[in-house]
Amino acid sequence: MVFRRRLMKWYRANARVLPWRGITDPYRTWVSEIMLQQTRVAAVIDYYNEFLRRFPTLVSLALAEEEDVLAAWSGLGYYNRARLLHKSAQFIVEELQGYLPPSAAELLTLPGIGEYTAAAIASIAFGESVAVVDGNVERVILRLSGRASETTAAARAQLRAQAQALMPKSTAKHWPQNQANARRGTKAKKSSVPMENAAGDHNQAMMELGATICLVRAPLCRECPVRDLCLTRGEHVTPARAPQRSLPLACLLDLRKRGPATEVLLELRPADAAVMPAMYELPSLPIESVGTLEPALRLRHSITNTNYYVQVYSLRRHTSATRSNYTLAAAKRLHKALSSDSRELKWTRTASLASLPLTGLARKILQRLQIMDAARLLSPQESD
Ligand code: ADE
Repeated sequence: MVFRRRLMKWYRANARVLPWRGITDPYRTWVSEIMLQQTRVAAVIDYYNEFLRRFPTLVSLALAEEEDVLAAWSGLGYYNRARLLHKSAQFIVEELQGYLPPSAAELLTLPGIGEYTAAAIASIAFGESVAVVDGNVERVILRLSGRASETTAAARAQLRAQAQALMPKSTAKHWPQNQANARRGTKAKKSSVPMENAAGDHNQAMMELGATICLVRAPLCRECPVRDLCLTRGEHVTPARAPQRSLPLACLLDLRKRGPATEVLLELRPADAAVMPAMYELPSLPIESVGTLEPALRLRHSITNTNYYVQVYSLRRHTSATRSNYTLAAAKRLHKALSSDSRELKWTRTASLASLPLTGLARKILQRLQIMDAARLLSPQESD
């Protein structure tokens, strides 16, 4: 009780204002929680707003083409999330009368929704008293209790039980009404009645504490509302960071003019590729084929535990940013490297790049070279 009261008092005074807070549409909560999987809050905000501008209701998402859904996700990473969200929306419209299931147990049956996301949606959108245990919450609880982090099933079950024991029991005073609104398809809006959703707020407060105070490496214990209930005061040992790999990557930028339009050569990744299937990227070049050529652009692209050192080789002379002065022999070599594979290459108008499912790296290169509009967004797992 003391823990909950202090946590909630702190949360009410300190919660970040985020676009998925204070809303009553379960569809929006669902979209936010899928985007927040393995992705930082700051990286999600603009994607969330833009995605809901393009697909304001569950039905509009179900009716959309997969390519358009992926285009709205381009740069956010983990594209399977977008595919499963889209497929689930179609399933919900076809089989569940368009209503997102209101309990964690039912939500778990949808593809793309694991235990933590099911608990987040069920508590935040429907007021169910079920604890969210994500990485942030796990760290908060381990530090509070002074236990070491273990990956055994028993340790995980204990962690869940502890998180559940901290949950408020009664919840969601106005929730049936909100659910009824959602069922009528009312668009998300700020609630006019001050809502009480103790379960959803508690879970968000736990995540917020982990994300902003109980930090992995330098926790801000002096600002923590529950420090005197904490056995470790942040001294808890956190697992060492996974080692980073470094890999070189070379790709080709080939531009041509067709009437007033500029076209860029893109490669469609195979539909059965293990990562980023059916997405467009700049054609990759075997690293041996580039020899000692000077790239038009170098950049670093970080995804999870890998730093890619990317070199972009340009064949045409359309913009000063991509000026190329390769010899004919070098240009031939690059072309040969391209044609030696069975690849799906496609000339694409630069004006339509924004509506294509581009990989995050392709988007970054094309924006950096001002071939497509400058970034509205920063990718979540990227830095440079
Ligand atoms: N991470 C996952 N879900 C979240 C939420 N609702 N608020 C803040 N961080 C989150």
